[in-house]
Amino acid sequence: MPNEQKGVAVSPTDTAPANPEAVMDGIGVRRMSPGELDAACTVIGLAFADNPNALTMAGGDRSKAQRIMQAAVRVAKLGRQYSRVVVAEDAGRIIGVLNAAEWPNCQLTMREKLKTAPAMVRAMGLALPRVLRMTSVWAKHDPRERHWHVGPIGVHPSYQGRGIGSAMLGAFLQTVDEQKSPAYLETDVDRNVALYENFGFKVIAHADIMGVNNRFMWREVCVA
Ligand SMILES: CC(C)(COP(=O)(O)OP(=O)(O)OC[C@H]1O[C@@H](n2cnc3c(N)ncnc32)[C@H](O)[C@@H]1OP(=O)(O)O)[C@@H](O)C(=O)NCCC(=O)NCCS
Repeated sequence: MPNEQKGVAVSPTDTAPANPEAVMDGIGVRRMSPGELDAACTVIGLAFADNPNALTMAGGDRSKAQRIMQAAVRVAKLGRQYSRVVVAEDAGRIIGVLNAAEWPNCQLTMREKLKTAPAMVRAMGLALPRVLRMTSVWAKHDPRERHWHVGPIGVHPSYQGRGIGSAMLGAFLQTVDEQKSPAYLETDVDRNVALYENFGFKVIAHADIMGVNNRFMWREVCVA
């Protein structure tokens, strides 16, 4: 899979400014720097406001879905020491985010669960039981073998469909391939299954979680 999508320049390995081509196009892909955590969480909240799982957890309330995702992704994903976060930026503004963590650190440890419990309760409120129900099914499906666990991946709604998600995925999977590691992700959106299949992921299981069809997808080690 080419690592250059629709004019999006890719520099996945560092947080340096995008290369001249990226500056020219205005959009580049690179690792997130710590000061960009707030902006990245905001993008995830906006991207997932209409997501089936997020809406289900939020009882159908779109702005609540956005708030829950924005808060939860900080505590459970992007803010973790184990997270590898790739961002897309347009003229200095974060417009896309891809998170990943390597097994066995892709699930929160007991220590992290205890430490983050107050923040999760504050962020989720009455949605907490639904969030726990969903995440526990996801955790049960998580393969008990080496892999990079990708997700969430989100692009600002105004920028979707322009190759940015593909560029982030391509950049990250390049690192995965260099490490000769499999990769894994969950998705609840039919349209996304095709996107991930383009990158070599295959559906290995699915589960109905509170009425939402969740797919679990695996990508074998790529031997180019
Ligand atoms: C899924 C997502 C990250 C893809 O990034 P993107 O930059 O929009 O996608 P690209 O332009 O690189 O690739 C386009 C493909 O992505 C998929 N896609 C999913 N949702 C899409 C959307 N809202 N707009 C455009 N493409 C979307 C389709 O497979 C599409 O191919 P198609 O046009 O042939 O149907 C992004 O659309 C997004 O943030 N969606 C909302 C949040 C979400 O569903 N995240 C993933 C959860 S598993």
